[in-house]
Amino acid sequence: MINSENISSAAGISETNNTVDIRDREFRLFSELMYERIGVYLSPAKKDLVRGRLLKRLRHYHLASFKDYFDLATCKDNPQEMQILVDLLTTNETYFFREEKHFDFVRDTLIPALDAGKSLRIWSAASSTGEEAYTLAMLLADQLGFARQWTILGTDVNSQVLECARRAHYPMESAQKIPKSYLQRYCLKGVGDYAGKLTMDDSLRKRVQFKPLNLNGPWGGLGQFDLIFLRNVMIYFDVPTKRRLLERMYQALKPGGYFFIGHSESLHAVNDQFKLVQPSVYRREC
Ligand SMILES: C[S@@+](CC[C@H](N)C(=O)[O-])C[C@H]1O[C@@H](n2cnc3c(N)ncnc32)[C@H](O)[C@@H]1O
Repeated sequence: MINSENISSAAGISETNNTVDIRDREFRLFSELMYERIGVYLSPAKKDLVRGRLLKRLRHYHLASFKDYFDLATCKDNPQEMQILVDLLTTNETYFFREEKHFDFVRDTLIPALDAGKSLRIWSAASSTGEEAYTLAMLLADQLGFARQWTILGTDVNSQVLECARRAHYPMESAQKIPKSYLQRYCLKGVGDYAGKLTMDDSLRKRVQFKPLNLNGPWGGLGQFDLIFLRNVMIYFDVPTKRRLLERMYQALKPGGYFFIGHSESLHAVNDQFKLVQPSVYRREC
């Protein structure tokens, strides 16, 4: 439960060189709020990061303290500011072909074993700006072509990254991670206003959809998937949150479906339903 009663918005604020300090009690308010809303645990070590990311909102509103900004963002009439707060406090690093072994596994093990004509439904469950979903799209276009039925759903709780994912304009440097033959067939070089950008061909974009979804909130009728990528997001969750999420993930996977987590993540002592196939790749039994 968030208790903001004891924090005075005036006391203890030191304003030096036009910057505002965040007090421990103020940091805790944001930390508890993020945990309640989206399950992200911000440890005290993240205090400077929170301060740095939110300072521009204090300036935007000419506020004197982080408590004032907390009150403004949590005001019932202001859901837009709450979304901006969530957007600012999530970490969205991603890139094409990140943790390449997963895509090698899809190409070399999974696709050759697919029944002819079987459709594929894939979920990139913390998609960030979309590179994971488009990496999969390039791979499937290459391996299965467009006559086969395959679709990819990307979801995230951050509205800004979803906008980027839908726009699919990436800096040209991101091309370095994409194999040349894929670049030639599935990527377009921006011209004019889009010079220096890279975008995805329409043939891929038609197969990839992005939607807002809080992994720790209601999911609506998402249905089941053949493959789920839940990579590099569980690192922000504590053990009870991971447990609850993994039980739901198991249900969202079709029997025989595959589940991918980040290489630095583990299901050890958190879930024993999934069967380990290789490090960071799991399966729901048929
Ligand atoms: C580090 S990125 C990982 C992106 C991609 N999966 C990868 O491995 O490259 C983590 C993403 O998880 C999202 N995220 C954090 N908490 C979330 C939640 N409760 N529900 C949905 N997405 C969340 C963040 O907004 C961020 O875009």
